[in-house]
Amino acid sequence: MRLKDKVAIVTGAAQGIGAAYARGLAREGAAVAIVDILDPNPVAKEIVGNDGKALPLLVDVSDEKQTQEMARKVADTFGHLDILVNNAAVYGTIVRKPFEEITVEEWDRLYAVNVRGIFLCVKAVAPYMKAQQHGKIINVTSSTFFKGNEHFLHYVSSKGAVVAMTRSLARELGNYNINVNAIAPGQTLSEANLKRGEQVDAHSLNIRLLKRRLFPEDLVGTVIYLSSSDSDMMTGQILLVDGGTAFH
Ligand SMILES: NC(=O)c1ccc[n+]([C@@H]2O[C@H](COP(=O)([O-])OP(=O)(O)OC[C@H]3O[C@@H](n4cnc5c(N)ncnc54)[C@H](O)[C@@H]3O)[C@@H](O)[C@H]2O)c1
Repeated sequence: MRLKDKVAIVTGAAQGIGAAYARGLAREGAAVAIVDILDPNPVAKEIVGNDGKALPLLVDVSDEKQTQEMARKVADTFGHLDILVNNAAVYGTIVRKPFEEITVEEWDRLYAVNVRGIFLCVKAVAPYMKAQQHGKIINVTSSTFFKGNEHFLHYVSSKGAVVAMTRSLARELGNYNINVNAIAPGQTLSEANLKRGEQVDAHSLNIRLLKRRLFPEDLVGTVIYLSSSDSDMMTGQILLVDGGTAFH
């Protein structure tokens, strides 16, 4: 129970990798707000059914009013707010295409969630974390940023922005004893990827040093580590969890 009495928000937690993070944090004793534009109730009920604490919240992270309300509700419900996992993103619904075919509307919507969403969520929780002089912020980038990836320009570049925000926010929040780090998963067989039939291709497996597919559970330990006191002297760092594909 490394996170006993801690309070966490996991965005994009109604399914996939975010749901795995939420279950993992709850198993370690944290009360977890399940935040998503999809129905957050099933994951919250499952956690409560396993004797954990969860608060389902329908929130669009690209909307400032909603993110402010999210932070207030979580702090009111549980008394404080210790951990924010910025996992929500436009990802599973993307149709890959050459960059010339990406419309300005698609570009802007993706950035509104993947980049502005993180900015707004951090802005919403920062006053609570600053007041208590501690906090753990974990951003979700991707190994794709380190490699570049074709037919995915808006997504890959948004994950580059997440790396930049992680480093800059770490600089701004260090004085308040708030850690800001990021996890960079490799291609993972989440629900979204399984649904659209995405497989890890032979080339990707071939260049991966550890020769097997990644599943959401493979990422959870790193998020627990970054949420716990074990990582208290780490900030501004990006941890690649991709079976050994990219290096930095
Ligand atoms: N699956 C992979 O191979 C992989 C690899 C690297 C990084 N990632 C990242 O991991 C995270 C989770 O990926 P996933 O595979 O579970 O995909 P996913 O598309 O299932 O997860 C994204 C979640 O965010 C939610 N979301 C989207 N827009 C939102 C909004 N405006 N407000 C609140 N929630 C919103 C979605 O409903 C969904 O539950 C994403 O940040 C993704 O970029 C995934």
